[in-house]
Amino acid sequence: MRLSVRVDTNPHSGIRTMFALAAGYPDAANLGVGEPDYATPDFIVERAARALREGATKYTPNAGIPELRKALAVKLAAENGIAGTERNVLVATGACETLMLAIASVIDEGDEILVPDPCWPNYFGQIHFVGGVVRPVPTRPEEAFHLKAEAVERALTSRTRALLLNSPSNPTGAVLRREELEAIADVVRRRDLVVISDEPYEHLVYDGRDHVSLASLPDMADRVLTVNSFSKTYAMTGWRVGYVHGPEAIIAAMGRLQENFSSCVNAAAQVACLAALEGSQEVVETMRRGYLRRRDLLVEGLRALPGVRCHLPEGAFYAFPDISSFGRSSVEMARLLLEEAGVVTVPGDAFGAAGEGFLRLSFAASEETIEKALERMGRFLKSLV
Ligand SMILES: Cc1ncc(COP(=O)(O)O)c(C=O)c1O
Repeated sequence: MRLSVRVDTNPHSGIRTMFALAAGYPDAANLGVGEPDYATPDFIVERAARALREGATKYTPNAGIPELRKALAVKLAAENGIAGTERNVLVATGACETLMLAIASVIDEGDEILVPDPCWPNYFGQIHFVGGVVRPVPTRPEEAFHLKAEAVERALTSRTRALLLNSPSNPTGAVLRREELEAIADVVRRRDLVVISDEPYEHLVYDGRDHVSLASLPDMADRVLTVNSFSKTYAMTGWRVGYVHGPEAIIAAMGRLQENFSSCVNAAAQVACLAALEGSQEVVETMRRGYLRRRDLLVEGLRALPGVRCHLPEGAFYAFPDISSFGRSSVEMARLLLEEAGVVTVPGDAFGAAGEGFLRLSFAASEETIEKALERMGRFLKSLV
């Protein structure tokens, strides 16, 4: 059957390509996957089970159950400094679908959207899906891959409609500082841009850094769609619950679009997410401390390897080491590490041209897996130098 042009030309995720290759190596130490290895906390699972027994088995309103939307509005005001009511909040199927709805609500065919380079590659496919044009804004290793307002300004054209932000960043771990966001906000205001700010790693910041939401800065709430998710914060990737805060008119439009995608999010999962917000947040901090230990283990180990340089990720759960000294492409290095060393990584070029020369390694894996990967990489890389 003939495929639609949209599907036929949809960019392939380099992460998925790597996973397809890795499937042939079941004993590989896998640092490729961007997913917590922690289980969802018990009290959240129990609440979902009870909700199912109590009848949360039906469709819900498109934008989510009112109790969850209200609780999210309270959370966003208290934690992120973003004011609003439930009418400013919509619940969707993970940050994935939430981003898709956000992009589809503001991008028309031919509109350009700026994205940090490197960035999470799903943005490419999502923007392509609505006929938008990706314009990468390079970030530099010397600046710890922080997105700079000057670089945003340089990338603007007369077709630029929006900017996509992601702090803490997948894959670089960059956490933008308030002053950097203020400078970006200044460009956004002057050039009348819309911002989609993807913040699913907000709770995974280290070394005393703060997560700042762009929408909390003056005059930003009317221009910013803040996308977030329960996936990483509560180790709930498989539950598929995300949410977005934005101006009422855009949120209402997304609700209408949601009807075409999934109609609504799984009812019991929404009740469980309400319990996650209302329960003790100690579970979040415990997991964060776990990731911090693993980050230090992985980064120290990588820095001790021959030919590898690695900056310290400020947030999220990825190390992004520089492996350019080996004189091979990141795809070739990732393939060799898989086939010769039994370690799954993701080549940096999957995240954009500025990621070439780097690999992404997740530290959302057990300490045992991290140690095994380091030991295998050490042996293999010594044979290359
Ligand atoms: C930057 C970024 N945004 C969004 C997502 C999607 O998360 P969700 O599981 O909520 O769809 C991910 C998942 O890896 C991510 O890394």
